[in-house]
Amino acid sequence: MKGLKLPRSRIIATGSYLPDKILTNRDLEKMLDTSDEWITERTGIKERRIADESQAASDLAYEASKVALDRAGLRPEDIDMIIVATVSGDMPFPSTACFLQAKLGASNAVGFDINAACSGFLYGFCIADSFIKSEMYKRILVVGTEVLSKITDWHDRTTCVLFGDGAGAAILEPTDEDRGILSVHINSDGRMWDLLHIPGGGSRNPTAAETVEKRLHYIKMKGNETFKVAVRTLEDLVLRTLEEQGLKPSQLSLLVLHQANLRIIQATAERLGLPMSKFIVNLYKYGNTSAASIPIALDEALISGRIKNGDYILFEAFGGGLTWSSVLIKW
Ligand code: UT7
Repeated sequence: MKGLKLPRSRIIATGSYLPDKILTNRDLEKMLDTSDEWITERTGIKERRIADESQAASDLAYEASKVALDRAGLRPEDIDMIIVATVSGDMPFPSTACFLQAKLGASNAVGFDINAACSGFLYGFCIADSFIKSEMYKRILVVGTEVLSKITDWHDRTTCVLFGDGAGAAILEPTDEDRGILSVHINSDGRMWDLLHIPGGGSRNPTAAETVEKRLHYIKMKGNETFKVAVRTLEDLVLRTLEEQGLKPSQLSLLVLHQANLRIIQATAERLGLPMSKFIVNLYKYGNTSAASIPIALDEALISGRIKNGDYILFEAFGGGLTWSSVLIKW
């Protein structure tokens, strides 16, 4: 392999979509035993978006993807591959990527889904990067889309105050320039599967009157334990990713972390000795949108002019599985 120069992949355009309906902490106070003060203090979240009754994950993905295609000046037929990361897909099967392909009219693409919870979008980057490097596929649409409001137990205050709906998309292409994806890391540890999962509706606990009655089709999370693993893992991952590239934390222009909890982002900033101004924070308005959180944050960072050519940007996510991932990009 020595001397062989593989193409790098770079993001040529992004897009995002958030449903119009806003559910505030004050609204939640009227629905269950919680308070704006508790939610703000423990998570940083103030409000979240909620999809319409008629909207499924592929509908949100479609809106975000259309924006990315328009900005890239591409037609849907120009896309070779569609990778959708979601835990709230339209149906158990077919894949949400197939629904999205049909909606877009991306007739030359192959589509499939990734199930890696909140890390799914970065897993998507990793897979897209490998296909681009191998020169099997050229133009890849990676989408994170979630309608978590439909798999959230609105009677469980330990989870329902956290989540929101939304979608984000990015289009990747090969480049010969000194930029693009520098490194990708994906990890999982299935021994901790029970920290974050949906027990019902699969082949372990097939849908039955009893599983519905026990509310097994909703997200269950051991929040406090997940929090501790997340802080430890994210710090290790940043340091490992940077060390490999010979970079110091101070050389990063921007960090785009999964938007689960402001305290997790603050703890990472503190441990790396970096100011919060280097971190994207938008969870106060969208909550935790799982696989959609990183691409929505990236899209907002680009639109608001926070990213310049040559910037080193680090993405990190952590979620059910457990899974965790990082991607380092030179813009
Ligand atoms: O996206 C994938 C990865 N996900 C994460 O990384 C999430 C990680 N976890 C977290 O963000 C936090 O653990 C939570 C925000 C979920 C919870 O915060 P916490 O500081 O870990 O609280 P806790 O679970 O230890 O609960 C503290 C107290 C409990 O009461 P007692 O037992 O001390 O009397 C809870 O019953 O807060 C209570 N509580 C609430 N009170 C008001 C839990 N939820 C609520 C609520 N409103 N919504």
